[in-house]
Amino acid sequence: RDEPVAGAKRVLLAAPRGYCAGVDRAVVAVEKALEHFGEPVYVRKQIVHNVHVVSELEQRGAIFVDEVDEVPEGAHLVFSAHGVSPAVVAGAAARGLQAIDATCPLVTKVHREATRFAGQGRQILLIGHAGHEEVEGTMGQAPERTILVNSPADVDLLEVDDPENLVWISQTTLSVDETMETVRRLRERFPHLQDPPSDDICYATQNRQVAIKKVAPDADLVIVVGSANSSNSVRLVEVALERGARTAHRIDYADEIQQAWLDGVRTVGVSSGASVPEVLVQEVLEQLADAGYRDIEEVRTAEEDLMFSLPKELRHDTSGTA
Ligand code: F3S
Repeated sequence: RDEPVAGAKRVLLAAPRGYCAGVDRAVVAVEKALEHFGEPVYVRKQIVHNVHVVSELEQRGAIFVDEVDEVPEGAHLVFSAHGVSPAVVAGAAARGLQAIDATCPLVTKVHREATRFAGQGRQILLIGHAGHEEVEGTMGQAPERTILVNSPADVDLLEVDDPENLVWISQTTLSVDETMETVRRLRERFPHLQDPPSDDICYATQNRQVAIKKVAPDADLVIVVGSANSSNSVRLVEVALERGARTAHRIDYADEIQQAWLDGVRTVGVSSGASVPEVLVQEVLEQLADAGYRDIEEVRTAEEDLMFSLPKELRHDTSGTA
């Protein structure tokens, strides 16, 4: 029996973790589209940034494309949870595509802010990561009035039209602390900078960061399940390290855990990004149990019960199923 060792080794399982309301809605949207319209259903970009989710949907008949012009005219096309620019919507309409908009409502909220501020003649400082699909979609709402701010270090290099007429908004999946630091520096340079009416970093991103912050100081190792292009998952690794985890790794699948990571480790913290199905976390816990980490304690910092209704194009006979 290995009880003494099992007692000494433990897992702190962060909660909330995994699927957020926007990801759940987007994945169900593709499933429902396949059910209602039949194969193939096209999806622009990865519906959510998770390799497992994308490959499962591919097996069920979804075809992932990078751009609208890869989709045959008249076909059904789902826009991903990260949102699209008006130019992409127009491109799909011009091709006669049946668009299904799975943009997370919390991203749409940021789009609306951008359009409104641009309409008021303001210049928008968008805090976010260059190249991320959400940033492309948000920039595209008012391209001529938006400047991207990649990091706190970017602030000194900004050239603006009118320092009196600036507002900041952000990507939804950033590090809360780093964003606040960027805003602090922006305000130092532009004291009249206006705040958005409410947080753009979404509830799911914030809650997962709060939970991992609670776990990290006690963890010798933190494992975050999530894909390399998942912004909120990558942020969880950074936040864990900032908050005192001795080491932290991001993995897609349990079999990526390396034996050497566990050397001398008593406490493993585990979390997962907002696009990660719980089954992948359970596989990690099984793998850890095989290595003697059977004592699992959930560390919960918030309850979540938000749900979004399906995109309107799918609502007619599927209400209440999301
Ligand atoms: Fe939406 Fe936030 Fe999830 S913006 S898709 S609820 S990570």
